[in-house]
Amino acid sequence: MTVSEVRALDVRALTKTFAGGRALDDVDFAIAAGEIHALLGENGSGKSTLIKVVSGFHRPDPGATVLIGGQPLAFGSPLASYELGARFVHQDLGLVEASSISDNLAFGPGFPTAFGTILARRAHARAARALEQVEIDIDPDALIGSLSPAQKTGVAVARALLAKGSASVRLLVLDEPTARLPEHEVVHLLALVRSVARRGIGVLYVTHRLDEVFEIADHATTLRDGRRVASKPVPGLTRHDLLHDLFGAALEHPLRMPSAAGQSPLIDADGAAAAMSGPVLSGALLSGAVLSVALLSVDGLCSEVLREVTFAIEAGEVVGVAGITGSGRDALCATLFGAGRRDSGVVRVNGQPLRRARPAEAMAQGVAYVPAERKLQGAFMDLTARENISISNLQKLWRWPRLRRRQEGQEARRWFDRFSIRPNGAVEQLLSTFSGGNQQKVVFGKWFQRQPVLFLLDEPTQGVDVSAKAELHAALFEAARSGAGVLISSSDVEELATTCDRVLVLRSGRIVAELRGAEVSPHAMSRAALGIDHQEPILPQGTMT
Ligand SMILES: Nc1ncnc2c1ncn2[C@@H]1O[C@H](COP(=O)(O)OP(=O)(O)OP(=O)(O)O)[C@@H](O)[C@H]1O
Ligand SMILES: [Mg+2]
Repeated sequence: MTVSEVRALDVRALTKTFAGGRALDDVDFAIAAGEIHALLGENGSGKSTLIKVVSGFHRPDPGATVLIGGQPLAFGSPLASYELGARFVHQDLGLVEASSISDNLAFGPGFPTAFGTILARRAHARAARALEQVEIDIDPDALIGSLSPAQKTGVAVARALLAKGSASVRLLVLDEPTARLPEHEVVHLLALVRSVARRGIGVLYVTHRLDEVFEIADHATTLRDGRRVASKPVPGLTRHDLLHDLFGAALEHPLRMPSAAGQSPLIDADGAAAAMSGPVLSGALLSGAVLSVALLSVDGLCSEVLREVTFAIEAGEVVGVAGITGSGRDALCATLFGAGRRDSGVVRVNGQPLRRARPAEAMAQGVAYVPAERKLQGAFMDLTARENISISNLQKLWRWPRLRRRQEGQEARRWFDRFSIRPNGAVEQLLSTFSGGNQQKVVFGKWFQRQPVLFLLDEPTQGVDVSAKAELHAALFEAARSGAGVLISSSDVEELATTCDRVLVLRSGRIVAELRGAEVSPHAMSRAALGIDHQEPILPQGTMT
């Protein structure tokens, strides 16, 4: 057997049981050298758990074998996994926000030292080379915290690929690497992944974006409830095949996919969504309709990145914000909410000014803000799901301490049902034990619970699977129908096209286009975001950097 015939990864009879249940059930799985292998599955199906066994983080149940580059992995040892040549870019990237790029790159393979002293200059030079490899043009001394999500992903990939001594990289594992990337930067990352595979490295690629599977993967394996339900070569596969593997018989009941522009009612058969709209929302509808004050009005908003941004949202509208990373798109929601700095301009909700840097006041005025990085701001990993959902609503429940826990539990379970949060009904589990997509759904539950009049959403369905995405969108439409306003900032132009009545496109901090109705298309958004003239033919994807 030649070196190239040795498999990058070979997983046999992998089972992993947690206190709460079985996350993986007798999974077999292999990746050839140089192969790009997509790993698919609904939120909570076991993808990250599989990866964490291969990375040495989790110990599987007895009976499993994992070979990396043909060598058996000693379970529970990240060092063993590393030494066999496995490299990981996890869902949360695992970078230290308060440290420089150079330090972050050094944490993995160890600082270059001479007589115990860190050779800062050598670390710097090595970081510069590593960044060059992934074509990122930033100073290695820049702090991770100052980077865009796209840049952070690039740094995480660069770190994963850094060579240490002679240890060669056999397997690169990417857990939803494009979840936080805008479209044109996805192209860049995919090119990077292909070049990694050409070097003979096997790539395990986790994604919820089915289009990416066709674009990049040689092979696709699907997990459902911890079991492998399919493993197929991608050539010859159709989108329907993939959806069928993902959802099985459930696919026969049509998915509640959002139709255009939030017109359709999209209510569950049991009317659950209707039950969610409360008095606050009807209040918003009345004040919007009778007084004809815009629900949200933004006038001359300026910040470090925003330039004179002016727009309004009426009650019942779902408005999108498109733009490349750094265009202001990624800053707008936080700035409106008061979580980001505002230099000048006036923001009003139902006519009442939202003062700058006062998120608590914004919340009291009925504004919900779901940030893109739930780990940092949106959620408390060390609290239970119930606590996360009820924490924004303590006032409502504080009077009856004994009832509170039960009431909160019921409330939380309601959102678990509404958004199909898994494990089903596990409201007392710590948020940290939920899968990434399910954590995001818990954050949504927390905000919907408050019945906000205005939703400010940054990358709202990042890491959320196809069917849960439709459920979240349906809940947003329902809120809008009851009179709330929704502002969705997303790097996913497809998502904006299917959900928004109107899309504002930002470039260099300014609104450069406002698309309405039939004008709202992914293509039009991308053109406006990149400043491509309407007459020119659009560049082929590969060159759109
Ligand atoms: N540390 C843990 N303790 C208990 N249960 C866990 C733990 N980690 C994961 N689980 C459970 O294992 C199951 C699989 O989770 P996993 O994170 O592997 O899903 P996933 O396929 O990566 O989902 P997503 O697409 O949402 O990221 C889930 O039910 C999850 O709640
Ligand atoms: Mg995951």
